[in-house]
Amino acid sequence: MTAHHKMDQADSRNRLDDMVQGLVGSPMNRPDGPLKVSGRATYAHEWDVPDMVHGVLVRATISKGRVTDVASSGMIGKDGVLAAITDDRLLRRPAQGGANEAPPQGSKQVDYFGQPIALVVAETFEQARHAANILPVRYEAEGNAAFDPEAEDTETDLPDEDQLDQGNLDQAMTDAAFSVDQVYRTPGHNSAAMEPHCAIASWDGDKLTLRGSYQMLNYNINELADALNMVPENIRMLSPYVGGGFGSKLGISPEAVSAALAAKEIGKPVCVTLSRPQVFETTMRRSETRQHVRLACGTDGVLTGVGHECLVSNLPGEGFYEPVTQATHFMYGGKNRKLGIEVARVNRTCGGSVRAPGEAVGMQVLENAMDELAEAAGIDPVELRKRNIPDRHPEQDLPYSSRRFVEALDEGARLFDWDKRNKKPGALRDGDWLIGHGMAGAARVNILSEAKAKVTLLANGSALVETDMTDIGTGTYAILTQIAGEMLGLPADRVETSLGDTDLPAGPGSGGSWGAASTGSAVFLACEEIRKEIAKKLGIDESDLRLGDGYAGRGEAARPITELLAGEPIATTGHIEPGKTLEEMQQATYGSYFAEVAVNAVTGEARVRRMLGVFGAGRILNEKTATSQCYGGMIWGIGSALTEEMVFDNRDGHIVNHDLAEYHIPVNLDVPQIEVVLLEERDEWASPIQAKGIGELGICGAAAAVTNAIYNATGIRIREYPATLDKLLADLPSQ
Ligand code: MOS
Repeated sequence: MTAHHKMDQADSRNRLDDMVQGLVGSPMNRPDGPLKVSGRATYAHEWDVPDMVHGVLVRATISKGRVTDVASSGMIGKDGVLAAITDDRLLRRPAQGGANEAPPQGSKQVDYFGQPIALVVAETFEQARHAANILPVRYEAEGNAAFDPEAEDTETDLPDEDQLDQGNLDQAMTDAAFSVDQVYRTPGHNSAAMEPHCAIASWDGDKLTLRGSYQMLNYNINELADALNMVPENIRMLSPYVGGGFGSKLGISPEAVSAALAAKEIGKPVCVTLSRPQVFETTMRRSETRQHVRLACGTDGVLTGVGHECLVSNLPGEGFYEPVTQATHFMYGGKNRKLGIEVARVNRTCGGSVRAPGEAVGMQVLENAMDELAEAAGIDPVELRKRNIPDRHPEQDLPYSSRRFVEALDEGARLFDWDKRNKKPGALRDGDWLIGHGMAGAARVNILSEAKAKVTLLANGSALVETDMTDIGTGTYAILTQIAGEMLGLPADRVETSLGDTDLPAGPGSGGSWGAASTGSAVFLACEEIRKEIAKKLGIDESDLRLGDGYAGRGEAARPITELLAGEPIATTGHIEPGKTLEEMQQATYGSYFAEVAVNAVTGEARVRRMLGVFGAGRILNEKTATSQCYGGMIWGIGSALTEEMVFDNRDGHIVNHDLAEYHIPVNLDVPQIEVVLLEERDEWASPIQAKGIGELGICGAAAAVTNAIYNATGIRIREYPATLDKLLADLPSQ
């Protein structure tokens, strides 16, 4: 049986509100939690595969040119070394998850420092690593590489689909009562997921099994098939547990292709695990950005113009670019608009999706500019935002689906005692510390993706949920268990959720915040169909069916579900497809951030003291895991504001700080007690379960609340991120 539904109309039935057990939304613990904390959850590197040998990538030490020779023959057969794989397909760049841009095949072209060019395989990891380090490689370097996105002679292009010129922004700026016209810069970021990338490839004839750490298996299997010139039917990928992805595992990376090629050549399973520097160099980076923002408003603070023109970078030929203006298009009104993205072509490691591509850095800067405008206009920053919430999409004239932006602003201001703050920059002290308060808005586009999931109600009265969907730390195991348990009237411990296997029904995986609502909807649809079957057995309408705690019906008349099944399981595949509601409504999630920051008046060190986030993301499927997603996003916001920065050497484009000692993500002491409030919301246009995405919302503007607070503390505007002490020290107010 299948239950197919296309999201062409709003679904306001809110069925999950009327169920018996109240499982959905509750802060249920992750069913996978005990396995994870006891070390029994099998992450990519931990599979016990017999006869496995190890491969270590060799990376280019030039920035542009060709590999002319890899002199491996003297090494093979000695010190455990089995092979050196130099197949052209190894040079393939990491995939973007569907939109993969492969370099030309049949060449040994090097486009960036650190690009994988060979894989050395040996009996042990240590032997392979040593051989990889000493492998003689010859190159023919080209001298015309570009490294600096802003250099005069760096080539750039303007993707047509991301240039908007509406009305006359220049005129609006001239006519404005108040305006902001500033350039901001944000640095590159690395996903820095806790689990490094790893793949274990094993062949059985022409069938490949690849165990790895990936976010979107249904795309990944096709990318891998494409890279290896195979049919996807001959590949099985397994990713039951993923130690964080944040975009870096949306697509396959060099470890997957190289492990598969090597395992085929050697005839043994091959494991390729990236070191931390290799993760930095060979997976995805978030592009640095230069953002020119212009805002114009009247004396009432109502925007008349919005300009957001950005420069980002990627490798020559890559289709992806950081969509910096994504939320600027719909966030605030103003009829004169100029939004654009320009892509500089540089020989640096591949640019790609990193948590909330677009909004993470775009909202961060837009919300800085709004703070500057609020000050210029003498209007409270919260109030300024409220005055500029448009009734309809200011460019496409679309209605908005659910949008609790006003409530997020008001509730945040109330909980944070915003009105009691000191409004004069530099005027509040606590000993050596200057104290400031800042706020920012949050927004992230919402997407529903096609997804399938199979649900089986077994004769013993337990249920099985099966899909290739992944859990990258987000809580997928929990929420799918909750939806199935709720719909089928089973306690959570009678539902088993099986994920991360391409043999299971295909979904969109974890990315772009669409995972929970999309796959959750597929599970919901399957369960609705099963409910219909049960209702049929009882001779009643499905809408009258009451299922709870393993029983159908209520009181004396209640019958065990097992009795109704009479030995026969019921299995259904739910299938959700996005439809008209995604095109006809502007769908997004919204929120607000409020931060208190202390800046040391002597050293310029900035510390976040408290931070609040208030978010509306449709139906919350699990309060605990949703809250944790927001914590994570806000913590990255703190990192973006204060410490995180990929540093490139402009002589050869190599990453200077390619490890977690020098690339500074926030640690416990950098993160105060963070508070997250989730607003009640149902979005009937978003999905049949009225849920929207939440995974990325927490970062989308968070850094701006911190730097706006730094301004309030010190009177210093940070327009070059991150706000390290050197940027504050010179201009701190005198004692
Ligand atoms: Mo996300 S950057 O689509 O994992």
